[in-house]
Amino acid sequence: MNRPLVIGNWKMNLDYVEAVHLIQQLGVVLKNKPLEHVDLVVAPPFVDIRSVTSVVESERVALEVGAQHASVHESGAHTGEVSVSMLQRLNVGWVLVGHSERRAMYAMTDEVVAQTLRTVVRQGLNAVLCVGEELSVREVEAHQDFVSAQLHAALEGLDEKSRPLVTIAYEPVWAIGTGLTATTTQVGEMTEHIRTVAASLSLGDVRVLYGGSVNADNATALMNEGRVDGFLVGGASLKADSFLAIAQAANDCYDSKR
Ligand code: PGA
Repeated sequence: MNRPLVIGNWKMNLDYVEAVHLIQQLGVVLKNKPLEHVDLVVAPPFVDIRSVTSVVESERVALEVGAQHASVHESGAHTGEVSVSMLQRLNVGWVLVGHSERRAMYAMTDEVVAQTLRTVVRQGLNAVLCVGEELSVREVEAHQDFVSAQLHAALEGLDEKSRPLVTIAYEPVWAIGTGLTATTTQVGEMTEHIRTVAASLSLGDVRVLYGGSVNADNATALMNEGRVDGFLVGGASLKADSFLAIAQAANDCYDSKR
């Protein structure tokens, strides 16, 4: 079992004042009750990142800061985009790549996902590759093939030194923000499938996370029976107590199995 990773994806929520408030709350709780067996990351909106990293650094909050997206381009005439090097300068260590909302709403094709992932890892940042099927795909039982194709498109031919920087997040689109969590059996089957495909692409040790309506009540079962290495958390990451309860569950599962 890999050391777990729990990432809070704040999406387009919390302005910088609210973001500072949340990171301070997280800092206070983590100081009183450190979580030794889990890596924590929060991914705020771009405009909050500077404020959040300032608090993380000055108050030594035990987590890292990520971004929800980055431009596939390195610089230049790309109005509204943010480059990986700009994020790196802000001490961002992680970037979500190909979240299903970016794929569906902002025309992020498999090709752009693959190129973005390479841009991220080339600069030495960790890339969290998001994959997952729509409900219509699962209904015709094509979900494993669909996810395999997404993994191949993004990871085929990735150079050896970049591979340790990759994490995979399985997020079935129908489970995101819907309250419809995938069952532990569905998650377990897909996790195993993803590990097999990843191994065939020379990413044998990759961490595989689950995302989609994760909360404090389902996290333990998803860890144990779904055999995931952690979570990508949306809605429940917007409150310190629910985010940290999920982190605690991951921490305790790992601790009990070491
Ligand atoms: P959710 O979002 O936890 O609100 O379902 C997960 C995600 O989109 O990363």
